[in-house]
Amino acid sequence: MTAAKNLRTAVLVSGSGTNLQAIIDCASQGKLGITINGVVSDRPGVLALERAQRAGIPAQTVDHAQAGSNAAFQQQLGAVLAELDPELIVLAGFMRILSPELVSNWAGRMLNVHPSLLPKYPGLHTYRRALEAGDTVHGSTVHFVIPELDAGPGILQYRVQIRPGDDEASLRARVQHGEYLIYPRAIAWFAAGRLALRDGSTWLDGERLGGPVVVEENAEA
Ligand code: GAR
Repeated sequence: MTAAKNLRTAVLVSGSGTNLQAIIDCASQGKLGITINGVVSDRPGVLALERAQRAGIPAQTVDHAQAGSNAAFQQQLGAVLAELDPELIVLAGFMRILSPELVSNWAGRMLNVHPSLLPKYPGLHTYRRALEAGDTVHGSTVHFVIPELDAGPGILQYRVQIRPGDDEASLRARVQHGEYLIYPRAIAWFAAGRLALRDGSTWLDGERLGGPVVVEENAEA
């Protein structure tokens, strides 16, 4: 029997890259079935780029601030991605909205993690919004990317209880702990051919999901 080939994967980042690190760690242990062949940041000098370099992964920046316009940035990023020719694109703390053209080029092959229980709180400041609303639960969602922001079909969702005394930092720490679990899991499913985006829905093992698979905090086994 021949071993399945690793999926060529590009990771897009903007910041500290803790999700990237979790993915690198799992991939290097052979748990994901992917090879990260490029990390691309929209900002120079971020820690995520350093993490990639430390792991021996080619890392580059398409600097949004230097691109001249958002259209030029999208074009430059598109060219870099075309060169990398990934079979999967993973957005890991990537804080730019991708053009519809770019998203449709990789339709069904692009994943994102967003720190809310989507469809609640697309966009920014999700922790603050959940706390201000007096929510009792919060979390993070891994989903397929579609042109509409944070609106693609969900794959996995990590849910935490909001505790009395929680602030943005404490809540973020618990939610991100869950991201390091659910994002590698979703990537492994995709690489194993278990996951697909079809007819506007997520399919797992040939079944259409009615919503993301939910992982509760403290039930992570
Ligand atoms: C992650 O927690 C992710 O949920 C969030 O950014 C963080 C990046 O952290 N993503 C978004 O807000 C995307 N809309 P990291 O760079 O340490 O992985």
